[in-house]
Parts: sequence; structure tokens; C-alpha cells
Amino acid sequence: MRSLRILRLTMSQILILGIETSCDETAAAIVADGRRILSNVVASQVDLHARYGGVFPELASRVHVEAIVPVVQEAMTQAGVGWGDLAAVAVTVGPGLVGSLLVGINFAKGLALGRGLPLVPVNHLEAHLYANWLQSDTEGAAPSDLTFPLLVLIVSGGHTELVLMRGHGDYLCLGSTLDDAAGEAFDKVGRLLGLPYPGGPSIEKAAQSGDPTRFRLPRAWLEGTYDFSFSGLKTAVARLVQEQDPDLRFVPDIAAAFQEAVVDVLATKTVAAAREYGATAILLSGGVSANQALRTAVRQRASVPVYYPPLFLCTDNAAMVAACGYFRYRAGVRAGWDLDADPNLRLC
Ligand code: KG4
Ligand code: ZN
Repeated sequence: MRSLRILRLTMSQILILGIETSCDETAAAIVADGRRILSNVVASQVDLHARYGGVFPELASRVHVEAIVPVVQEAMTQAGVGWGDLAAVAVTVGPGLVGSLLVGINFAKGLALGRGLPLVPVNHLEAHLYANWLQSDTEGAAPSDLTFPLLVLIVSGGHTELVLMRGHGDYLCLGSTLDDAAGEAFDKVGRLLGLPYPGGPSIEKAAQSGDPTRFRLPRAWLEGTYDFSFSGLKTAVARLVQEQDPDLRFVPDIAAAFQEAVVDVLATKTVAAAREYGATAILLSGGVSANQALRTAVRQRASVPVYYPPLFLCTDNAAMVAACGYFRYRAGVRAGWDLDADPNLRLC
């Protein structure tokens, strides 16, 4: 056992503890060299918030307070490492819910101070894209020798960003949503259709038995830009639901039409941006990149390889924070002891 651990630690040089508490997942992970996951622990509050139909911020922070110590301890135990093996602690500082972020930040600060470890601040959006750097043998996983520039689509509950990644930490933001984020649209439409929270996976499931051609929903193309808008689509769904006879079956068909409308716009703009900027590959990331229809549509339309993380790394986790933290650590990025949460932090 011990010789196994020594072998593992000598093979991999830099171990980062990642901590993530930006929304409703308390997560900790140990990642070696920004790529190899030694542990990845996620305590999800999703069932707790489901009864409110969305994340209840104050409840989220209090549950993080309860969960953070056992989650970090579990990550250390599963990885079979001690505090002395760590090179740094990386923590999400934003964007996200301020009360939730503060729990992770203060815990990471105390740990780093107590153990004499460097503290590395991580942008949650950047962490999402680094999920593609984590080693995985699942279909769609990126190879280790990605070359820049890369076109990245970050689609989560709070964000929809099209980004050109020119190098580690070097981003050109091409477009973002003007109103609702893609995941937010899925969640709101899920609620309109009476589907369980979160709406994304529920809509994807309902859409499987639906006919996407029965209803035609609008697409906001915002011609000439790489921006997005999903609020008009959500309003169109609300109107459509009101017009339906409640005794007749319509949920799977509306779910399928809605999903197709979102995927159409996301895939078209992503592929166009990759072409315009000469990207060598497309990376999908964030909770909505778990969507199979999105993955398939981008793959079918793109002329460059398309990669996405395995499902458990698409949604919030700390392995992606540790992977991102590794590259920031190598670049010499360190947080001061006055580190604070930045709920509106941007990528560029
Ligand atoms: O990245 P994430 O876990 O948290 C944020 O940083 O926001 O993303 C959560 C979002 C939710 O809006 C959820 O509905 C959406 O990702 N989502 C999906 C799917 N799985 C999760 N959306 C569409 N299809 C899915 N399969
Ligand atoms: Zn996220």
C-alpha cells in the first residue's frame, strides 16, 4: 500500500487540493499535475433546493459550512495523501453566490495559513473549461496534447460564454448571453413544463420521447455577433404552454422543440467562431455540455475535433478547480491573505 503510494507520488509531481463552493455543490478534489484525478468528492445540495425550484442562497451557504470539513477530509483520504504532500490549495473565488463562495475561500485560507501552503485563486468559469484537461477514457475526452488556439463554449446555470483560448490564462471573449444563461433557460422552461429541478437533465429526458417538429420555437440569432439571448424563447414556451389543452400530451414535444432551439443557436455560433478564428479544436464545458443533443450537433457541424468532459466533470466539481489551479500555480499566481469573494468575476 505504502510503496504504491510512493510510486504514485513520485510519478506525479505537483498535487493541488481544489475547493469549490460557488453554488450548491460542496466539493474538494486532489489532482496531480493538472491532469490526473486522485480524488473528486462532491456533496450536492440539489435535492434540498429542488423543493424551492432553484438554489436558495442562504440555505446553500449554511449547508456548505456543515459539509466543507468532511468533504475535504474525504478527498484527502480517498487520494491517500497527507497535507505535506500538497503543493497548493486552489479555491473558487467567483463568479457565484457570495455567501457560498465565502465558505470555501475562508476554509482554504485557514488551511493554507495553518499548513504554510500557497493559496491559488480560481475563476469558476475558467475551471469549467479546464475540466477538459482532466484525464479520462470516456468518449469525447480531449487528448493531452491540445494545441492553441482553442474555441471554448462555457454553458452553465449562470453563464453562456464563447471564448477563444490562445494559451493558458489567455482568453478573448467573443460573445455571451444578453439575458438568461443557457442552463438558466433550461431550468426556467423545466419549471414551466412542471418537470423536476434542475431543468436541464429533465428536459433532455422528456425530449427523448418528444417530436421536435410539432411546435416551432423562435431562435434569437443576433446576426453578426457571437452573443446569445434565450429570454424570448422562454417567453414563447410560456405562451405555448398556456395555449395547450392540459388533458393532452404536450410536455415531451415542447421539451424537444425547446432543446432543439437552444442547441441550434449554440452549435451554429460555436462552429462559426471556431472557423473564423482558426481554432484547432472545440471544447465544450459547463453543466449544459452534459447535453447529448448539444454534443452531437456541434460534432456534426464542426470541421475540427470536438471534445467534452465526462458527465460528472461537466457539472460543478473541484477536480476542475484543482486542474485550473495547477496552471495558475505554475504561472506564479498567488492570493493574498485579504482574498475576498468576487460574485461577478469575469473571464475577460
Ligand atoms: O455548471 P453547473 O453545474 O453549475 C453552474 O456553474 O451553473 O451547471 C448547472 C446547469 C443547470 O442549469 C442545469 O439545468 C444544466 O446545467 N444542465 C443541463 C444538463 N445537465 C445539467 N442542461 C441541459 N442538459 C443537460 N443534460
Ligand atoms: Zn459551474
